[in-house]
Amino acid sequence: MRPEPWILITVTILLAILFQTFSTAKSAYEADRIVNLPGQPAEISFRQYAGFITIDEKQHRALFYYFVEAETEPASKPLVLWLNGVVGFVGPGCSSIGAGAFCEHGPFKPSGDLLLINEYSWNKEANMLYLESPAGVGFSYSSNKSFYNSVTDEITARDNLAFLTKWFTKFPEYKNRDFFITGESYGGHYVPQLAQLVIESNMKFNLKGIAIGNPLLEFNTDFNSRAGFFWSHGLISDSTYEMFTSVCNYSQIRRQIQNGSLNHICSQVNRQVSGEVSQFINTYDVTLDVCLSTVFSQSKMLDKLQDREEIDVCVEDETAKYLNRKDVQEALHAQLVGVTGWTVCSRVVSYEMQNLEVPTIHILGSIAKSGIRVLVYSGDQDSVIPLIGTRMLVNGLAKELGLKTSVPYRVWLEGRQVGGWTQVYGDILSFATIRGASHEAPFSQPKRSLVLFNSFLAGKALPQP
Ligand SMILES: *[C@@H]1O[C@H](CO)[C@@H](O)[C@H](O)[C@H]1NC(C)=O
Ligand SMILES: *[C@@H]1O[C@H](CO)[C@@H](O)[C@H](O)[C@H]1NC(C)=O
Ligand SMILES: *[C@@H]1O[C@H](CO)[C@@H](O)[C@H](O)[C@H]1NC(C)=O
Repeated sequence: MRPEPWILITVTILLAILFQTFSTAKSAYEADRIVNLPGQPAEISFRQYAGFITIDEKQHRALFYYFVEAETEPASKPLVLWLNGVVGFVGPGCSSIGAGAFCEHGPFKPSGDLLLINEYSWNKEANMLYLESPAGVGFSYSSNKSFYNSVTDEITARDNLAFLTKWFTKFPEYKNRDFFITGESYGGHYVPQLAQLVIESNMKFNLKGIAIGNPLLEFNTDFNSRAGFFWSHGLISDSTYEMFTSVCNYSQIRRQIQNGSLNHICSQVNRQVSGEVSQFINTYDVTLDVCLSTVFSQSKMLDKLQDREEIDVCVEDETAKYLNRKDVQEALHAQLVGVTGWTVCSRVVSYEMQNLEVPTIHILGSIAKSGIRVLVYSGDQDSVIPLIGTRMLVNGLAKELGLKTSVPYRVWLEGRQVGGWTQVYGDILSFATIRGASHEAPFSQPKRSLVLFNSFLAGKALPQP
């Protein structure tokens, strides 16, 4: 008995539709697969992807991402989103790929024509997703340029959520994976604001925790801890410290500079402080040598200090050179839209500076209350967002939430040395310092940062003596 011809035809059509759907879904992300990054080692065990995700079809706004699968067993490792911000006077708007991936904890560090293996890459523990956000940062763009005129926290969070939704559609096998949102600096705004949107939006992303390093959480506390930090590190004198805390403080100075109107008395204090600190100090790490190559030559400078002899302090220059290569941009499926070059910090985005004053510490509280782990950590050599203010804010938040200390302030170890100090409140909120680390902690203390990252993902206590 032969089947009716119409059945055969129907089945064939159905199969064709199924196949079509399946293969387009597959090619959706296969098209973003990076075959080979110029200069990378020949044999690597993990897959890499990069490309644009359009988040506004009408306005042609698209965000660029770089996704690195875990080195081993990616299917059993969590997914981690990383967001850089940077709190400069020009405002937030630095690239998570330039800073996070290629200077801090990605698998490679550019050096000349080559990509060197980063032994302490975070993709040893997780599938790492680096996002250039908001539009106007790195390769991310808006074809309607008026978008750049006033970018706010609200817009950034909304666009980041739109990105995530589309990214998970593209990579469906990650949708139910344990998911963490992490970042640093102005990420103190981006990370909790996005996490809150994810929670409120009822998206079924499996958000398990957030981690933020040297984050801007509360304008006055964060910036006014600079005086004590400078003074205790010997960068300013007793009398200057006195002026800096009683005559005009740093939050006042910042406000006035952002407003474009530094008054006479604050201008005097500012000059006194800057003069003593000098321009030869990297305020993002007061113990790290400054990058002299931009001043003298393009030669690579290695910091020869005892336990950090392998830090290339000029790695950001190398990254900019690398990401501006045509062959690199092709390999990444990137292109420059409306700008002439890739820069680590945006030259087109005009960020709403008033947003810097919006406190985000309470958002951390509501995230913790909804059962999502919160880790706040500080590279302890950073004077831009010093640990002093951050520790005070987290401690205050714990009190407010009525969280009891579950791990009293103590050292944690990396190998047999102290990696920093930590305190845990009620198993949901933790604070940790990273000893000898800069504002971009994984850049200057990669090994210690990886230990911290690992225990955060696992939800385990940091190693103790
Ligand atoms: C461009 O963007 C601005 C601000 O986001 C908006 O007001 C304007 O309508 C947009 N222009 C077009 C042509 O869509
Ligand atoms: C420092 O700044 C804060 C916030 O702007 C202000 O309220 C405070 O009075 C200032 N303190 C001193 C000692 O100037
Ligand atoms: C200056 O800053 C203050 C506080 O941040 C703000 O309220 C005020 O509107 C600003 N003034 C100007 C002229 O921008």
